[in-house]
Amino acid sequence: MIQFGHNNIQPEDINRCVSVLQSGWLVNGPVVEELEREFCHFTGASYAIAMNSCTACLHTACYFLKEKQGISKLKVPDVTHVASAHAARMAGLEVELVDVDPQDGIMLPEHLTGEEVIVHLAGQPAAETTPNTIEDCAHALGSKYSNGGHVGTQGLCGCFSFYPTKHITCAEGGMLITNNRELMEFARLFRGFGIDRPPQFRSKPGEYDSLFVSPNYRMSDASAALLIGQLKRFEDNRQHRIKIARIYEEELKGVVELPSWRNGTSWFIYQIQTENRDGLVEFLKKKEIQTSVHYRRPLSQMSAYNDKFTGANSQRFADTVLSLPIHQGIMESDAREIIQAICLFKNS
Ligand SMILES: Cc1ncc(COP(=O)(O)O)c(C=O)c1O
Repeated sequence: MIQFGHNNIQPEDINRCVSVLQSGWLVNGPVVEELEREFCHFTGASYAIAMNSCTACLHTACYFLKEKQGISKLKVPDVTHVASAHAARMAGLEVELVDVDPQDGIMLPEHLTGEEVIVHLAGQPAAETTPNTIEDCAHALGSKYSNGGHVGTQGLCGCFSFYPTKHITCAEGGMLITNNRELMEFARLFRGFGIDRPPQFRSKPGEYDSLFVSPNYRMSDASAALLIGQLKRFEDNRQHRIKIARIYEEELKGVVELPSWRNGTSWFIYQIQTENRDGLVEFLKKKEIQTSVHYRRPLSQMSAYNDKFTGANSQRFADTVLSLPIHQGIMESDAREIIQAICLFKNS
């Protein structure tokens, strides 16, 4: 079976995690702080705030825009995970769904007005941002803009996911990066009930204030421990994905529609487009090749949104797109087996 997902948790990561569990300091501890420092170093961002999901990070950023900047509506691409839009709705913002690039599903630059969540879909870096753009970087660890900067550092903030299918994982986790000091201070409070002091900074046990109502979005130190080694090994991960992407690109040219190769992509997934996508999915499944679809239903078709808008591009993209496996568990021989199966299907 060629699996679509794969995690790269190594014995050294497990050992680090076990040490944390034995240390007795499980939350708000030094390992979360170490991960945050490593993340700043990796991305070049001034601040990194660890949370328990990317959705938590997106929600925090949306809430900040509403409370501190008086924004009431955000544009969201019609092709993305529901979290990109749910976060805005949960913060009490209106969501306006907008159309995407027909080739790679990324929000069209003409929709950038300074009030939007953009998504670096499949790890492909969106070209433009504004100072208020929330960058959904769930797919885009290691992706760079054309100027060489890490995604998530150009707009207001970047929000990353450590869900199991992602480049690096701790089961559930997220990271918000920003260069904006006010957002950093807000996010540190927002992720922990609005409480102004963690236990190690209290003059007397239980002596703290809660400044405003907010959820518990903290990351545990055990989760952070799992991520530190994966982040350090990330370049190997990225190089491996690039090698597999080049094989797909060379050998699937002319067979199916290929993604435009945006410079700086870290190839979270390799998305092709083809008519009779679902026929191909079934064919590959019979050959024990797992695939996925990001995303089969545009948000405008979801009951939660049920929007009258259906972008011409987003609907076609959703109907034809297919994600092929591309991760450190995929060997060159696996990629060639997948290519062979796709060619066989197309010629049948
Ligand atoms: C584009 C995108 N944004 C946000 C999320 C939400 O991430 P999390 O599960 O860490 O909350 C996902 C999850 O897969 C995603 O794919």
